[in-house]
Amino acid sequence: MKAGAALRRGELVAFPTETVYGLGADATNARAVAGIYEAKGRPRFNPLIVHVDTIMAAERIAHVSPKARRLAAAFWPGALTLVLRLRPDASIADLVTAGLDTVAVRVPDHAVALALIAAAGCPIAAPSANRSGHVSPTLAAHVAEDLGDAPAFILDAGPTAHGLESTILDASGDAIVLLRAGAVTMEAIERALGEVVVRASEAAADQPIAPGQLASHYAPRAPLRLNAREVHPGEALLAFGADVPVHAGALINLSATGNLVEAAANLFAALRSLDALHPDGIAVMPVPEHGLGAAINDRLRRGAAPRK
Ligand code: TXA
Ligand code: MG
Repeated sequence: MKAGAALRRGELVAFPTETVYGLGADATNARAVAGIYEAKGRPRFNPLIVHVDTIMAAERIAHVSPKARRLAAAFWPGALTLVLRLRPDASIADLVTAGLDTVAVRVPDHAVALALIAAAGCPIAAPSANRSGHVSPTLAAHVAEDLGDAPAFILDAGPTAHGLESTILDASGDAIVLLRAGAVTMEAIERALGEVVVRASEAAADQPIAPGQLASHYAPRAPLRLNAREVHPGEALLAFGADVPVHAGALINLSATGNLVEAAANLFAALRSLDALHPDGIAVMPVPEHGLGAAINDRLRRGAAPRK
């Protein structure tokens, strides 16, 4: 399948699932995943769902607890997404989880989606294939309207069966918690599980995670100093662009050529690497606010926000 090879090369492929059309990228390729955010015009790095073709493939990515296994056995393939504890050795790009130590996984119930995953031979990170803020696409034509030629392929299999996104459960802890209502009902889930599912919040279906929860994303231990034009003693430098101040200490350049897709792909890993050196602080050079810069700056501002 040509689309599988395109994914392997780091290109984007839009594909049908039983819920809505997804915009897929190789979940292990940070640069490809950054391309998803660019194509969608997403102003924030929301974590993405990883699509796999078997429970076994999910287990290579995440720890599947006995309760999570029962849910997977009952509903996969299907419109149930499980948030699970990420295996550190899974080589899922940090941009997929937005730096969290959990990962959302599901096995879609659609022959084309499953064929694509098999052909690609890698887990596929995919949000709904619409521009940020628009409604989710239930037809290939919606994808083309919203995303133009950003995907190398748009696989057309007609209207999606559910037309509603998957139900998302947090199954990373002891209690199973509803994060987003969706195509699989709570009644069906509680019947399969034999216990009550905790409702996380009164959040609307399209706003599953409150901004407050997103603020708890991995933040470096070292304080971030934004829009830095020079480096103070003891600081590490997170640079951007060609015009880097003279600095003898630790330095990572998000993109020496000022490429925002490359910068987004490098962001989380760069923060982790600099933080691991235990600097007094991390000076961050200004990143332009346009394109993916908005999401990069959103993440940096969250990382720099006062700690509780
Ligand atoms: O039906 C669907 O779920 C579609 C198809 C393409 O699979 N996908 C979809 O993706 O709706 P998206 O990006 O529109 O919504 C994914 C949501 C994120 O906004 C976030 O709320 C949640 O999944 N999510 C992903 N990873 C998470 C994590 N580690 N912890 C909590 N929530 C997570
Ligand atoms: Mg969406």
